[in-house]
Amino acid sequence: MTARKQITKEREVNMKRQVRFTCVFLVLACVGSLSAIAASQFVNGDYDDFVLRPDVEGNHVGAHHGGILFVDGKYWWYGQSFRDKSARDGGDLTTDGVVMYSSTDLVNWKNEGVILACTPQGDLKGPMRFERAKIIYNDQTKKFVMWFHYVNAPGKHGFNIGEGDAGVATCDTINGTYEFHGYHRPLGSDMRVTDCTLFKDDDGKAYFIFDSGSPKKRGDRYQYIASLSDDYLKTTKVSKIPNSKRREAPAMIKKNGYYFLITSGLTSWNPNPTKVHRATNIWGPYEDLGNFCVGEKREITFNAQSTYILELQDKPGSYVFMGDRWNRENMKRSAHIWLPLEFPTQDTVSMRYHKEWDTSIFDVGDTLK
Ligand code: DGJ
Repeated sequence: MTARKQITKEREVNMKRQVRFTCVFLVLACVGSLSAIAASQFVNGDYDDFVLRPDVEGNHVGAHHGGILFVDGKYWWYGQSFRDKSARDGGDLTTDGVVMYSSTDLVNWKNEGVILACTPQGDLKGPMRFERAKIIYNDQTKKFVMWFHYVNAPGKHGFNIGEGDAGVATCDTINGTYEFHGYHRPLGSDMRVTDCTLFKDDDGKAYFIFDSGSPKKRGDRYQYIASLSDDYLKTTKVSKIPNSKRREAPAMIKKNGYYFLITSGLTSWNPNPTKVHRATNIWGPYEDLGNFCVGEKREITFNAQSTYILELQDKPGSYVFMGDRWNRENMKRSAHIWLPLEFPTQDTVSMRYHKEWDTSIFDVGDTLK
């Protein structure tokens, strides 16, 4: 090869290298900026702060003790709308119903309105409670099915029928108007239903998990698990978790083959320790692993109460604890406390406090997966 040909060849190789480098650089830059866009940021503030979460119109998101589903490319956040009053003055009740918000990034939330409304008369007359509403999708009936803790007007918890029951509603679309199908007690008329959640397993079977007790033994409240019929509208088998006395606010996930049931203690709207129970079979036995919070204020769950655990759509295996920090002086201004769950080992789960954080934490934290 002549010297000139040699130089031309080297130039070509260098140019190709430069083009390759530029392409790789551009791709990395794009991925970098995309992941920066995709990282959603959450602000919890200090333990006694009630940081508001404005929707896109600037109003605090009013979906309390609810949950989130991912459907058709969006997250749908739903829950009970509270009144602008203190808890002792009935702020813990609703005259609206269950409300819904939508978002693609978990930060910018659009108010989608009321999906299950209070009505002037009948079984949904407010002020009442649609506490701990949860929604799952039934692949067979193609319906969204909601279960919740139902207490009719005037919304006072009691032991009579209608003062603590399991309410059921369905809808063909996630954000349509839900049709109310009534309320009942899976364990019979003597056993009222209070805090509850739904869990859909990998095989499509679904379960209603709830707190129940009889007026005859007031302190004897336990968590129960009920399997649901194929259409998810009725309970079938029901089983008690014997070591779950006086727990509420249940939230369930399954990870690494373990069922982790997270519950709060029973102290009205005041914070208390959150526990985790673990099982390898949905029916148990459940092992009580104690308080799963780590660090300062762990004995009051960082001043929050569990409501739901969200698995991120774009980061499967990464979970966000959703809790409410109850503002007893103005329930409508209760804060939403979201924290990343950690999995120190295959069979354990724990949670630390972050005043603020973003979902890129899941990309770097090796115990967060
Ligand atoms: C805390 C529960 O988690 C709420 O759902 C509600 O029932 C209050 N207690 C009432 O005291």
